[in-house]
Amino acid sequence: MKLLVTGGAGYVGSVCAAHLVDAGHDVTVLDDLSTGHKDAVPDGARFVEADLADAADAADDVLSDGFDGVLHFAAKSLVGESVQRPELYWNGNVVTSFRLLEAMRRHRTPRLVFSSTAATYGEPEQVPIREDAPTRPTNPYGASKLAIDHAIGSYAAAHGLAAVSLRYFNVAGAHGSFGERHAVETHLIPIVLQVASGTRDAVQVYGEDWPTPDGTCVRDYIHVDDLADAHLLALEHAQPGRHAVYNLGSGTGFSVREVVEACRAVTGHPIPAVAAPRRAGDPAVLIASSDAAKAALGWRPQRTDLATIVGDAWEFTRNRTP
Ligand code: UFG
Repeated sequence: MKLLVTGGAGYVGSVCAAHLVDAGHDVTVLDDLSTGHKDAVPDGARFVEADLADAADAADDVLSDGFDGVLHFAAKSLVGESVQRPELYWNGNVVTSFRLLEAMRRHRTPRLVFSSTAATYGEPEQVPIREDAPTRPTNPYGASKLAIDHAIGSYAAAHGLAAVSLRYFNVAGAHGSFGERHAVETHLIPIVLQVASGTRDAVQVYGEDWPTPDGTCVRDYIHVDDLADAHLLALEHAQPGRHAVYNLGSGTGFSVREVVEACRAVTGHPIPAVAAPRRAGDPAVLIASSDAAKAALGWRPQRTDLATIVGDAWEFTRNRTP
């Protein structure tokens, strides 16, 4: 298929673009490089440097070429920043996605796979979290992604778009030289590995008094390669006029302490951890039910072991640390 990957120079976007190229698709990456990296665009993909927020309408220009589908990753994704500066999220996520949807409608682009998030659910009433759980996001980041999910649903119903939203839980790991490298790092595993590689002194553990077995927060870590597999399956299974929503996680929860322990085992570094206050907005436990994705897409996560996830992330970090 001839595919446009927005945000394909970012972490998840670049890994998915690499999988798509390997699978023989004709891939164009569109990215403004605000948080992505040019060298993360995989060989074999065409690259267009453009900002979906520009009035010139980058999406319209590119899609006029005729595409079979779009994988839409380009977004702002820092929960804390979204609370401080919501305008960046309503404009950078919602307005840009609306522009993309309109360009797709104008140029009759038939398929869309959208990068949604577990943050659309907010504090869960029940875990594992299924797709029919209430959506009550606790920050503008999650709210902006939920708004886009609603927009996509209405475009599918009214205009026949074949659409799938994938709600990621905690994405981690790396795909060779494609991995997580943010200028401002807030995610647990990269931070812990920065300690192991000597670029940070210690990891702060945000709260040790949560209602969990060891008192630290529990999350569902999904390997970025498993996530990419789900995107390729979603593309194949998308049906005209239908907006499907699937949660993607490994289905197992690991606590912050367990993650730090796994990183110690993989790296052989002592990794000092210091207790810190709870971080605002963190739910105690987030675990996905991915039964719907497994049943509908035939998706089977292959790399659910924490040692594998951390090991691949460590390989990536080590190769990039001077
Ligand atoms: N944590 C620490 N110390 C750190 C960083 C994180 O203790 O230095 C803890 C957090 O409090 C949390 C866990 O590690 O309990 C995981 O935190 P991350 O920041 O790695 O990930 P989140 O669970 O906060 O966020 C992820 C995605 C978001 C998405 C959210 C869904 O990164 O994009 O899941 O709820 F919105």
